[in-house]
Amino acid sequence: MDYLQRAKKILQRIDELAAISENDGFITRTYGTPAFLSARNKIAQWMKETGLSSRVDNIGNIRGKLLSNNPAAKTFVIASHIDTVINAGKFDGPLGVLAGLDLLKNLIQLKTKLPFHIELIGFSDEEGCRFHSTYLGSKAVAGCFDDHLLQLKDESGQELAAVIEANGGHIAELTSDAIPKDEWLGYYEIHIEQGPVLYEKNIPVAVVTGIAGQYRAGIIFNGENGHAGTVPMTMRKDGLACAAEFVLAVEKLAQQYNDVVATVGKLHIIHPASNVIPGEVIVSLDLRSDNEELLLSSYESIKKITAEICQKRNCVLEWNLIQYNKPVICDTNLSRMLVESINKSGHELVTLVSGAGHDAVTISTVAPVSMLFVKCFKGISHNPLENVEPEDIAVAIEVSDNFIHELIKTNNL
Ligand code: HGY
Ligand code: MN
Ligand code: MN
Repeated sequence: MDYLQRAKKILQRIDELAAISENDGFITRTYGTPAFLSARNKIAQWMKETGLSSRVDNIGNIRGKLLSNNPAAKTFVIASHIDTVINAGKFDGPLGVLAGLDLLKNLIQLKTKLPFHIELIGFSDEEGCRFHSTYLGSKAVAGCFDDHLLQLKDESGQELAAVIEANGGHIAELTSDAIPKDEWLGYYEIHIEQGPVLYEKNIPVAVVTGIAGQYRAGIIFNGENGHAGTVPMTMRKDGLACAAEFVLAVEKLAQQYNDVVATVGKLHIIHPASNVIPGEVIVSLDLRSDNEELLLSSYESIKKITAEICQKRNCVLEWNLIQYNKPVICDTNLSRMLVESINKSGHELVTLVSGAGHDAVTISTVAPVSMLFVKCFKGISHNPLENVEPEDIAVAIEVSDNFIHELIKTNNL
């Protein structure tokens, strides 16, 4: 098959996965749900059909291995995630896993001798939508899964530990999911850009040079419920008014800098009613920058401004840090090989820093990481309008074939 035919096969499988959702009418496959399991089973079947030994590990990742003849060889991981956000697009995550499967199928068909093992992984929870903590799957593979995460609860009150066990995983064996630090050769992830640069330039792929750092926090404004008709304006402790001022203050702070973005994506009023002054209001904060110092100073500024808002409005503030990742620099050697692979394909070279987080963030704590971005429609993502053209997928797998062969060549010396 030529690259375009291979790309169309990948697209066909992406469409098959897109038909599996926990919601009617839009795509959602969050960690450990029946829809997630059914999609994972399909990927496991495709891995087996390709000739990979596939297994589900304890945290729920789907993993397929292509072995080198040298049992002592290191492992190179090609991966992305199989979970989605709510009302997702069909490419964010699955594209990287299915393109990776295509690369391995090509190596098998060419009967390529591998100087290293290649492990293809579909990570089980990159988005963190169900248990509000990202990278659970890659944390287990990187050996940095923290047991306190097991107590995380979803909206229905189900604990992560219970879901792991219910789905056939064993808490006690989570540590065995890790690839030991000295066995890693490196990591490669193909992912949609989720931004507009490649679309505007009409260039199919880009080398990712870094990934922005991020803070995620859960914030509770504890006001006081009261009668909308009787409490004078001067005596109110309005949790929603507090949250509203917070949202605008966050936006105003981020607008001061080119390389800071901040989002309040969730706002939840406890016991909402039109004739009740809101008391407890819960919001999310997502703050990012590829500049570590600016990320930290912006986070501290937002915390200070929030405390001042609460004091002025007589509300009690609860601030819970959920996640902090510092900015990641992709491996220069692997990125250089990717640059050479793009040059060999004849396409124009673009390098980009990722504003989106990826499992590569976690894996960068134990191995050199590399990423290739693929052009997507207007840069739209986390949205059903997310789309990738087969011609751009074809370039991505041509560049990736070049990259893997370059990696084999340099490791055969
Ligand atoms: O939120 C992110 O950056 C990624 O989509 N998980
Ligand atoms: Mn993603
Ligand atoms: Mn995403």
